[in-house]
Amino acid sequence: MTRIYFNDVVTRDGFQIEPNFIPTDDKVKLIDELSQCGFAKIEVTSFTSPKAIPMLRDAEEVMGRIKRFPGVEYTVLVPNLRGAERAFESKADEFNLVMSTSETHNLANLRMGREKSFSGLAEVIRYVDGKTPINVSLSTCFGCPMEGDVPQAVVEGFAQRFADLGVRGLTICDTTGMANPIQVAKMAIALQQKFSDLQLTFHFHNTRGMGLANVLAAVQSGIVRFDGSLGGLGGCPYAPGASGNISSEDAIHMLDAMGYDTGIDIPRLIGLARELPLIVGHAVPGQVAKAGSTCDLHPAPDYVAQLRETS
Ligand code: COA
Ligand code: ZN
Repeated sequence: MTRIYFNDVVTRDGFQIEPNFIPTDDKVKLIDELSQCGFAKIEVTSFTSPKAIPMLRDAEEVMGRIKRFPGVEYTVLVPNLRGAERAFESKADEFNLVMSTSETHNLANLRMGREKSFSGLAEVIRYVDGKTPINVSLSTCFGCPMEGDVPQAVVEGFAQRFADLGVRGLTICDTTGMANPIQVAKMAIALQQKFSDLQLTFHFHNTRGMGLANVLAAVQSGIVRFDGSLGGLGGCPYAPGASGNISSEDAIHMLDAMGYDTGIDIPRLIGLARELPLIVGHAVPGQVAKAGSTCDLHPAPDYVAQLRETS
């Protein structure tokens, strides 16, 4: 049975755009509960400027208070050198660096051009000096909401430059849900051929309802690592119209039904997803938490028994 590794990003990608600050206690409790569901990785928070992302201004406190469960990696988003210093102090298991493959999106999100971002991140990688594994999340790899197409060659170019700097992994992000399954399969095959030594993770948003179709295309093309977000929360604050990540429980439920080993306690995960609307104060997009898993059968109406006898 093929093992699939899930990284839940709800407390980072999800909470960063919530209109109301989620209390630190709730974040810590949720992360501890996610740890017990069997995730391979959890993106706990982000060491960005608290002015840029005020919702995650409690990053140090969250990292200091969560329980570290064996077998779970606790990763954090690191935008620059200052973020790396803070992430070291918090003893994160992995630093997730981020830049966009689209110039316009990078300017909007990080307020600098791609080359400046690349050299800043290269400086972070040198500063980390192999002490903590580095993952680089490349945004807008399947299209930019402002520029349109992002050629696959551009994605491969940045992937190569980071591979040359010795990163452990790359996350290929469909930041605003523009990918389609054919495009995903093409990207997945090309990147696995070129970067067979790297951990490759695919990160989809369900902005246009193509999220799970894209997961299927990726998994059938050999990708075994995915980001997902509990309840399907998420989005990029600087991408117009961006909406939720694929819901972790929907994607995991689908892959489990297909016979993949996700390592996740699915009933527990669905239970947790059902608590999420209470934490964020609004409904969330995930579907399996509403409908229940395909294993949860409903009693037949009484008249069915009568019909069985008479027909
Ligand atoms: N942690 C804490 N504070 C930070 C910081 C970090 N990692 N990076 C910058 N700052 C602070 C600086 O100290 C400075 O504070 P001051 O105004 O009190 O002096 C302020 O932020 C501006 O610093 P500057 O170096 O000019 O950075 P910037 O304003 O160009 O911001 C980013 C650069 C990338 C740090 C910022 O735009 C950011 O965090 N953006 C969010 C990106 C993100 O997470 N997007 C969503 C995920 S895809
Ligand atoms: Zn995202």
